[in-house]
Amino acid sequence: MAYLRLDRLLGNICCLNRNDADKAIRRARVTLNGQVVRTPNTKVDTECDCVTLDGCELVIRERIYIMMNKPEGVVCSSDGKEKSVYDILPENMRRKELFTVGRLDKDTTGLVIITDDGNFVHNAASPKRKVSKQYIATLVEPLTDEMAEKWRSGMTLADGDVVSPAEVELLSSDRLKVKITIHEGKYHQIKRMAGAVSNRIVTLKRVAIGEILLDDSLEVGECRYLTETEEKVYN
Ligand code: URA
Repeated sequence: MAYLRLDRLLGNICCLNRNDADKAIRRARVTLNGQVVRTPNTKVDTECDCVTLDGCELVIRERIYIMMNKPEGVVCSSDGKEKSVYDILPENMRRKELFTVGRLDKDTTGLVIITDDGNFVHNAASPKRKVSKQYIATLVEPLTDEMAEKWRSGMTLADGDVVSPAEVELLSSDRLKVKITIHEGKYHQIKRMAGAVSNRIVTLKRVAIGEILLDDSLEVGECRYLTETEEKVYN
């Protein structure tokens, strides 16, 4: 059995400092196996005890994997300069060391996977694996057959960067809404691909990373843990 003090556990899992963890416990915000506990040094069995903070169960396990439906206006970096995906995680999902699988731009929405498992990130983001990333884009100009063909055959961007062939599917009869699947993750890739065919992206939403699909029951800004099957995809 592995035991940990309750205040330390809150520190590890919820990123609360010692003082805030103590306060949360003394203010009866924390329960252990259904009972409110008010003593910070209470021992928790990390293998079988159930701890809640403000009624939300804390996931006491070595690694966590979170799916977020990212809203516009938050970044995927954690340099503290701008509001990030980590800032909008529910308190019970926070950890000290979290990473995203690749990054979305501030104005891009949709699927972001957040984890503290470096191996998972490596496996999902490794260029060697060529994991597919699927996006729904709306465009300023209708996508002509010539534009689609350039995306499908791979192309050289304005700065000389070469992008591999993408899969392209028109989703609306006005040719403004498209599904694009790429197998790499270059900086601003979709926007640059649009620019390279004299078009422009109005909205961009990621809907899949390989076999992991954005859960359409998640409202914008909401999160859930990955299922065991989803976790196994890159483990
Ligand atoms: N391509 C982009 O241009 N932006 C993103 O956020 C993701 C892919």
